[in-house]
Amino acid sequence: MKLVTCCSFKGGAGKTTALMGLCSSFADKKHKVALFEADENRPLTKWKENALRNGAWDPGCEVFVADQLPLLENAYAHAEGNGFHYALADTRGGLSELNDSIIASSDFILVPTMLTPLDFDEALATYRYVIELLLEEGLQIKTAILGQRVPTCRLTVSQQATQAMLALLPMFDTPMYERDAFAAMKERGMLHITAQNMSRTPAMRLMLHNTRRAMDELSIIGAFVEKALED
Ligand SMILES: Nc1ncnc2c1ncn2[C@@H]1O[C@H](COP(=O)(O)OP(=O)(O)OP(=O)(O)O)[C@@H](O)[C@H]1O
Ligand SMILES: [Mg+2]
Repeated sequence: MKLVTCCSFKGGAGKTTALMGLCSSFADKKHKVALFEADENRPLTKWKENALRNGAWDPGCEVFVADQLPLLENAYAHAEGNGFHYALADTRGGLSELNDSIIASSDFILVPTMLTPLDFDEALATYRYVIELLLEEGLQIKTAILGQRVPTCRLTVSQQATQAMLALLPMFDTPMYERDAFAAMKERGMLHITAQNMSRTPAMRLMLHNTRRAMDELSIIGAFVEKALED
């Protein structure tokens, strides 16, 4: 089982949404996905409840509350012993011993960031912190920055400048764009199943088009992680 962790010092950087997207992308490829909920606000538990209500939860996925180290240990052991292919850990913003433990146990670390100067500073601080932690522990773990909520229209000069600075760091080749389909995942459920459900309702043709396009983007993001884990 491979552990992928979304982390960022900054609250609201798009960690949970990126993780929901990755989960949909892996589940769409028939992988079993364990979701480790290290945020006591329980966004993933709520996601699962909403998704089940909408018939948009993949039964190959499970949420494990893991906001304390012993719970995380149990979740890891259970998921590993039960044939899960991936575990995705959703951390809380900021520093904590739990976050350090998750980072050090990961196989891939994803740092999401939006394209504002403030977000860039926070992403850089998070990236530096992760690298220093890995160096201290003598670990080599693939780490990449994911552009999050990137506008689909033309970027402002400031956004272009931020993107150019980010490009100096290890980056995902595709960002997660600012899309209604991504914002709605937390209410609707898994994106690949939402798309399947929409395809049965002719009145949702336009939304289906947008949802499928968003799902195609998630597939590229998921493939990037899978490829990095193979190398
Ligand atoms: N790609 C996107 N397109 C549109 N909206 C997005 C996207 N990514 C995130 N959002 C929205 O931005 C808000 C913050 O995202 P999210 O909850 O994923 O951030 P977070 O880093 O997990 O926050 P927290 O630190 O509170 O855990 C949410 O309302 C979410 O729906
Ligand atoms: Mg979150």
